Amino acid sequence: MELGLQGKIALVCGASKGLGYACAEHLAREGAQVVIVARNQETLDLAAAKLAAVSPGGAAAIIAVAVDIATAEGRSKALAAVDKLAGATNRGPDILVNNAGGPPIGDFRDWDRDIWLKAIDANMLTPIELIKSSVDQMIARGWGRIINITSGSVKAPRYDLGLSNGARSGLTGFVAGVARNIAKSGVTINNLLPGSFETDRLLSGFAASAKLTGETAEQVRVQRMQETPAGRFGNPDEFGATCAFLCSKHAGFINGQNILMDGGAYPGVF
Ligand SMILES: NC(=O)c1ccc[n+]([C@@H]2O[C@H](COP(=O)([O-])OP(=O)(O)OC[C@H]3O[C@@H](n4cnc5c(N)ncnc54)[C@H](OP(=O)(O)O)[C@@H]3O)[C@@H](O)[C@H]2O)c1
Repeated sequence: MELGLQGKIALVCGASKGLGYACAEHLAREGAQVVIVARNQETLDLAAAKLAAVSPGGAAAIIAVAVDIATAEGRSKALAAVDKLAGATNRGPDILVNNAGGPPIGDFRDWDRDIWLKAIDANMLTPIELIKSSVDQMIARGWGRIINITSGSVKAPRYDLGLSNGARSGLTGFVAGVARNIAKSGVTINNLLPGSFETDRLLSGFAASAKLTGETAEQVRVQRMQETPAGRFGNPDEFGATCAFLCSKHAGFINGQNILMDGGAYPGVF
């Protein structure tokens, strides 16, 4: 299926590995020019080299920006890289994939105001700031795609993911309003909700959850796998392909949705 992404400019945050990288890879394969962002320069450079190898435009179509996207300075450098690819000032991306690391797992009694503000900054206010910096230019061009990587925990909260449940629910409520407000413009905003996908985040989370329950990380892993009707964890490649489809010319009528990818783990009908 031709996705119509050739030449589009994408900004993918949290993209040196895991779900963000998988989104960047599928967009790059489809001929989009991609700016990827993560904090660790070494991992990011490796990711950029892999993307250049699959992109029809090669290395010229990929820019890696090693910054913390949860800072104003980091966002401004990421947007400057988009301008560099576009050869224009304050252009903004055609496609924005919002993503950052998830907040720590734990017990809410241990979280003070600073910990909450960090989670809200990374998982709610940063995507909102990037939407604010990009959406009006998308509207002016009559086309745009914004995908927020959130979490299945927005729909089915898990106790130990309290910071994630809270911060991402705020983003979800915000997006629900804006997506409808701009719906006539050709710009869509959707949230992709991962269940359990095999990434570094998932694997390190087993150890953190185990500390709370007194189980071993392996016991938590097996239990989580059993909770998933598919009998396996998701493959980040499946997530990246879905992201690319939602960014495609075929997905213009999908807007303001929370799309759950969890192997059937959510038990409700809707
Ligand atoms: N995997 C799952 O099963 C699952 C389930 C539900 C929700 N999620 C959520 O989905 C998101 C992606 O998860 P993942 O599993 O792909 O995580 P991951 O494997 O840990 O990858 C996270 C990526 O984001 C980058 N990153 C983290 N914080 C950043 C920041 N402040 N600024 C810029 N880049 C940043 C990381 O690189 P650096 O560390 O070098 O910055 C890395 O490239 C997370 O928010 C996670 O909580 C994942």
